[in-house]
Amino acid sequence: MKPSAKPSIANFSSGPCAKRPGYKLENLKSAPLGRSHRSSLGKAKLQKAIEDTKKVLKIPADYIVGIVPASDTGAMEMAMWSLLGPRGVDVFYWESFGKEWATDIEKQLKIPNTRVFKSDYGKLPDLKQADFKNDVVFVWNGTTSGVKVPNGDWIPDDRGGLTLCDATSAVFAMDVPWKKLDVVTFSWQKVLGGEAAHGMLVLSPRAVERLTSYSPPWPLPKIFRLTKKGELAKDIFAGSTINTPSMLANEDYLDALAWAESLGGLSALMERSNANLKVFEKFVESHPWIHFLAETKEIRSNTSVCFSVDLSPDQVKAFVKLLDKEGVAFDCGAYRDAPPGLRFWCGATVEASDIEKLLPWLEWAYEEAQKPAS
Ligand SMILES: Cc1ncc(COP(=O)(O)O)c(C=O)c1O
Repeated sequence: MKPSAKPSIANFSSGPCAKRPGYKLENLKSAPLGRSHRSSLGKAKLQKAIEDTKKVLKIPADYIVGIVPASDTGAMEMAMWSLLGPRGVDVFYWESFGKEWATDIEKQLKIPNTRVFKSDYGKLPDLKQADFKNDVVFVWNGTTSGVKVPNGDWIPDDRGGLTLCDATSAVFAMDVPWKKLDVVTFSWQKVLGGEAAHGMLVLSPRAVERLTSYSPPWPLPKIFRLTKKGELAKDIFAGSTINTPSMLANEDYLDALAWAESLGGLSALMERSNANLKVFEKFVESHPWIHFLAETKEIRSNTSVCFSVDLSPDQVKAFVKLLDKEGVAFDCGAYRDAPPGLRFWCGATVEASDIEKLLPWLEWAYEEAQKPAS
């Protein structure tokens, strides 16, 4: 039987992700539109985004945070191009975004002594293989496989190299052990449902030390430059962005951070993501045709939750189309490079009650997708 109740918000995309509950464009009316981002007002707004990020994410006081161009990709590439080279690099990947970083390191930067550790979708490579005399590059949560790093216990405190971590679909939803990480990057449109285009770059004191003591042998475009005359470009980490940001997107991010604080901060955000995942876990237990792509619970993501289903690739396509047509789940197909299946975003901006309403539709679509086309 076709269900009747529909999710109030059917946005399950893994980026851009659903806006926070209660989101209204009117909330952005204090955005300094038409004003310079270098005016005292504009700069104060950007600095507030940095300060509020530090507060909500509980970033250590001696770490610095900057708003940089080109989203998470921009932040990650600027870090790799600025920092890598003096040591060998161990890169771990288990899905498509991590694979892109390995390609950058091997084929573009061509760093000698690069070791690549990879695994298939659903698995995690053996992180214990990392040699921390090298720099170590990885993604905390593999958005396209729904496989996350379970913790930072495999990273020693007294490491020689730096750890560079793309945490764009992890921060605000998972426990990120800052002291184990020297570079962390993310973008606004993921867990807090912000607007795309801006990257966040978080650097440890050791990463700053590398920046000021090492000059890469390759040219760095202006958009990647984090130092001036061998010194850290401190202004970038105090709201003076390299180039022009969107003050509207920044206001939107400030609104999302204020919402996060109003809920009770990081622990409340993590609880919401965990509660969302639990709703799916209960469903999977009682429905033998749907399986988490992540092979174990320990590595199962609570943001980009990926599934395989007992349907042919064409039936999966039909399933996804049916949900879209009914307006009950948008953008829930697996990522283009991932095995055919489903992916539902479960970050903090998604309501558990909407997932509850979605579940009967999954049962319905599963039956419908198997019927011969009429
Ligand atoms: C793990 C990961 N890295 C990088 C990206 C690319 O992010 P952006 O579009 O913000 O550059 C994504 C996007 O989904 C991602 O999930």
